[in-house]
Amino acid sequence: MNVLQLFDVTKRIGAREIVRQLNMSVREGEVYGFLGPNGAGKTTTIRMIVGLIRPTRGAIHICGHDVVEEPVAAKRHIGAIVENPEMYGYLTGRQNLLHYARLAGVDHVDERIRQVARRVGLEDRLDDKVKRYSLGMRQRLGVAQALIGDPKLLVLDEPTNGLDPAGMREFRELIRALAAEGLAVFVSSHLLSEVEQMCDRVAVLQQGSVIAEASVAELRTRAGSLRLRVSRQEEAAAWLRARGWQVESADGRLTVVDLDDPAAAKLIRELVEAEFEVYEAARTGGLEASFLALTGAESGGNAP
Ligand SMILES: Nc1ncnc2c1ncn2[C@@H]1O[C@H](COP(=O)(O)OP(=O)(O)O)[C@@H](O)[C@H]1O
Ligand SMILES: [Mg+2]
Repeated sequence: MNVLQLFDVTKRIGAREIVRQLNMSVREGEVYGFLGPNGAGKTTTIRMIVGLIRPTRGAIHICGHDVVEEPVAAKRHIGAIVENPEMYGYLTGRQNLLHYARLAGVDHVDERIRQVARRVGLEDRLDDKVKRYSLGMRQRLGVAQALIGDPKLLVLDEPTNGLDPAGMREFRELIRALAAEGLAVFVSSHLLSEVEQMCDRVAVLQQGSVIAEASVAELRTRAGSLRLRVSRQEEAAAWLRARGWQVESADGRLTVVDLDDPAAAKLIRELVEAEFEVYEAARTGGLEASFLALTGAESGGNAP
């Protein structure tokens, strides 16, 4: 079932189209990545999804309810962290959750707070003041707040910004676990590696338009290239070309282009069996190569 659907969503501010004809859908149990460089229009889109601003054209449905036409029915199913979650540092985690539980009209408040705190791993720290929390704990409290009304859709705008690698990994694991329980998650990021590790599908946003949508698994197995440092480089290049590989030889490296993961593994094995020494092998491929090809960017998709 589609929990979130965008139909031809366009947002114009003044004379400028910030996002253009977005069509996306997110299913139950799926983590959907919304990947794009700074300024691409991610936050603007998310603000429309959560009902803070209206689309200029098009429609957004949450569990079949139009966000503009039926805001109460639609928003009942959303939990969100947009930009930095607004938490009160001088209050405890529990007091903050109590505040949001009341806003959301939650029944059996104490039990619900216990459940969401346990779910995000904060049950032992619930009575500490939030100003004593690490950034990672604050983000998890943000997720607890987003979950308090038992939503079907979790919307996160660049949730791991500022987290250290361990905090990022913890956060990713939490999101994956929530999706495994059936939650639909829509998460924006400007980091390819993060989307690769957290998401099932990805839409690539550039200058307000979605230029590609694909499953992460599919992008990963698409052809990329392989860079090798080997013994007898020129001889190895000739040997590979004779076997039908397209090879460039420069700067002490061979670059073999247009091969997927299984082909790369096979090629390395063949080189070794032919008694070339393979000192280094690096894939610039799969997801990163596809992403660069899609965005036409030189590096990381962040080019202006
Ligand atoms: N209220 C606004 N008025 C004018 N321009 C805006 C407004 N909100 C966003 N923008 C512009 O829209 C573009 C996309 O912004 P944003 O959605 O915040 O991108 P992202 O979250 O992907 O970094 C930016 O160029 C930004 O300056
Ligand atoms: Mg943003």
